[in-house]
Amino acid sequence: MSDFETVVRGGTVVTAIDTVRADVGISGGRIVCVGQGLRGASEIDAGGLLVLPGGVDSHCHIEQLQEGGGADEESWITGSTACLAGGTTSVITFSTQFKGGGLLGPLAEYRRRADSAMVDYTFHQIITDATDAVVWDEIPQVVASGVRSLKVFLTYDPLYLDDRGFLRVLAAARRNGALVTVHCENYEAINWRTEALLKAGLTAPKYHAWSRPRMIEREATHRAIALAELVDQPIQIFHVSCSEVAEEVARAQAAGLKVWAESCPQYVTLTADDMDRPGFEGAKFMCSPSPRAREDHERLWAQIRRGTIDVMSSDHSGWSYTGPRGKRVNGVDAPFSAIPNGIPGLTSRLPILFSEGVVGGRIDLNRFVALTSTNPAKLFGLYPRKGSIAPGFDADLVMWDPTRTTTLRNDLMQHVMDYTPYEGMQVTGWPVATMRRGEVVMRDGMVSAPTGSGRFLARDAYPMIAPSGVLPDGFDASAFA
Ligand code: URP
Ligand code: ZN
Ligand code: ZN
Repeated sequence: MSDFETVVRGGTVVTAIDTVRADVGISGGRIVCVGQGLRGASEIDAGGLLVLPGGVDSHCHIEQLQEGGGADEESWITGSTACLAGGTTSVITFSTQFKGGGLLGPLAEYRRRADSAMVDYTFHQIITDATDAVVWDEIPQVVASGVRSLKVFLTYDPLYLDDRGFLRVLAAARRNGALVTVHCENYEAINWRTEALLKAGLTAPKYHAWSRPRMIEREATHRAIALAELVDQPIQIFHVSCSEVAEEVARAQAAGLKVWAESCPQYVTLTADDMDRPGFEGAKFMCSPSPRAREDHERLWAQIRRGTIDVMSSDHSGWSYTGPRGKRVNGVDAPFSAIPNGIPGLTSRLPILFSEGVVGGRIDLNRFVALTSTNPAKLFGLYPRKGSIAPGFDADLVMWDPTRTTTLRNDLMQHVMDYTPYEGMQVTGWPVATMRRGEVVMRDGMVSAPTGSGRFLARDAYPMIAPSGVLPDGFDASAFA
C-alpha cells in the first residue's frame, strides 16, 4: 500500500533556505510530504540529482500582440516547450495596451491565446496610455481578474509613458493593490543621442549601446524610485544592467522603500562588444538596456549577493534573426534604431545562472533557487503555490544534474527562434526532467506536456506589495488623481 501517488526518491531537495537529502511525496498534483523512506504508487529515482522547485520566469515575452496586427513569433506552444526544456514551469508574460485603446479587449485576447500554454502563467498589464477610463475604470477590472502587476515603459515608441502618465499608473496601482514594474531608460536622452549618432553616420548594431549609456538607465531608475516614493507605491525595476543602477535601488532599499530589482543572464554574460561582431551578427545581442562591459558582470554579481537584485528573469523576447518579423526585418543595412530589441533566453536561464553562479562560486545553491523561483513567486503573489518544495505547494519540480556539462546550441533551446546569443557557451548543470503539478512533462529534453495543460494563475491581494503608508505631508494624492 503506497502513501502517495508519486514519490521522487533519493534526491537532494533544494529550497531557498535548505539543502536536504529527502524524498518528495506527491498526490493530486501537490506536494504532500518531504521526508525519508516515502512510498509511492509510482516512483522517480532522483539519486545523484538535485530536486529544485520549478523555475518561475517573471519577465518574458510570449505571443505578445504587435501594433500592426499579429503577435511575436514565440507562440505559447513553442515558448512553453522551451520553458519546460529548461526547467521553468511558471511564467509571467505581458498583455499590452495600444495607445488610444483599452486594456480589457487585448487582455481577453491574451487569455484566449494562452489557452494553448503548457506552463502555468499570468500576465503583467502594460499601460501605454493612462487615460481616465484606464486608470479609474479598467485597471480595477484587470486587477480584479487576478492580474495584479502593471508594467510601464519610460522609453520606447510607441510604449513610452511620460512622468505624468507614470504617476497616474502608480496611483491606480496604489488604489487597487497592484505592483508596478518599470523599464527604466530616459526616452528623450536616447532619442537625442540616436539622432546624433544617425547624423554622424554611426548606424551599425554596436551603436545601439552608444545610444543608451548607463547614466541613461541610472537617471530613469532614480526618477522611477523618486516618483514611486512620492505616491508611496511599491515597484520592481526591470532588467538592471549594471551596478550603478543597482546602487540607486540599494539606496532606496536602505531608506526602507519597497523597491525591488531584477536582472537577467545576459547582463552577467554578454557585453556591448558582442554587438560589434562582423556583418549584422551584432543584432543577435541587441537588447535594452544594452549589455555593458566585462567588468560589470562581477559588480552585478556582488549586487545579487547583497540582495539588491533578488530576481533573475529571462526577458526572453520573441525576435528571430531571419524570420519575417525578426532582427533583419528592415534589411541587413538597417540602422541600429530600426532593429527589433530583445534576445531569446527561456531555456538557457537556469543553466547559465547555475553554471556562472553556483558552479562559478559566485552564489550558493539556495540563492540560485531564491533568484530563479522563490523570490519571483513571492514578489508576484504566486507564493505559497509556486516557488518552493514543501507540503501544499504545486508539485513543480526540476530534477537537475549538477555535473552535466553541455555546450549550448540553438537546437537545445527548443524555442521558435533561429538563434541563441549563447551559441557555443559551455555550462555545467542541466535539467534532466521537469515535473509540473505532479506530472513529468520533460525528460531528457523530450517535452510531453499536452497543449493547453497550463493554467492561468489568478493572483489575490498579498501583504508584500501593500504601500508602506509614508506619504509626503501625509497627503494621499492617489485618492484624487
Ligand atoms: O530589449 C528588450 N529588453 N526587449 C524586450 C522588451 C523589454 O524592454 O523588456
Ligand atoms: Zn524592458
Ligand atoms: Zn521585457
